Amino acid sequence: MMHLILADSELERIPAEIKNHSCVKKNRSFILDASLHHSSMKKIKDWQRRGRPDIVHLFLLISQESILNKEGMLRTYVHTRNNEVIYTNPETRIIKNYNRFKGLIEQLFEIKKILYEENVLMEMKEEKLEELLSKLKGKRILFTIKGNKKRIEDVIEEDVVCIIGGFPFGDFITNVYDMADEKICIYDRMLPAWIVAMEAIVAYENKFIADKL
Ligand SMILES: C[S@@+](CC[C@H](N)C(=O)[O-])C[C@H]1O[C@@H](n2cnc3c(N)ncnc32)[C@H](O)[C@@H]1O
Repeated sequence: MMHLILADSELERIPAEIKNHSCVKKNRSFILDASLHHSSMKKIKDWQRRGRPDIVHLFLLISQESILNKEGMLRTYVHTRNNEVIYTNPETRIIKNYNRFKGLIEQLFEIKKILYEENVLMEMKEEKLEELLSKLKGKRILFTIKGNKKRIEDVIEEDVVCIIGGFPFGDFITNVYDMADEKICIYDRMLPAWIVAMEAIVAYENKFIADKL
């Protein structure tokens, strides 16, 4: 099984300090989105990296639609800057439309669970990254440009936990470097989180399930 974690994701509700700004009020969104709230965000700490639900959307689209997930060998988790974790049912198909996806995330922040008939499609829990990690079995691989240059196929094991940063710039907020068994860099230049997720998924498929397909 591959567990794929998007860690320290820049997904949050609009912070109280900017709730009454005109551009925030005009857009009537509950989720901070840099593409809409850019002009108000300069008032908040770390504003350059915050408000990126698009990273979460692309990460979930790629992972949930992957062959690995369809084969039942993938679990995805979105850990946020405020220590929430979103658990996504492997059966969940992610809404392709970005605005509707944000609507779903707003609902998650409000009512914590998205249900379809009796099934929980997505659930949000207050949880630190280390709490999530303590529940998962497998070698922990942190993807970071600061890691040793390695091929993913050479380091993954059948039970593996891959950790990828869910932010556009800067470094992890959580002290994730101490939580990993191995830190790897897969390319000399910075890649978007969803591309790193895709590379990890495909490496796992090629190494462990290609013969069975
Ligand atoms: C856009 S990057 C975030 C930028 C940030 N400066 C950093 O180094 O973590 C998003 C995430 O993708 C992963 N990543 C990006 N490029 C990588 C690379 N060349 N090798 C390994 N992981 C990479 C890392 O997990 C990173 O946190």
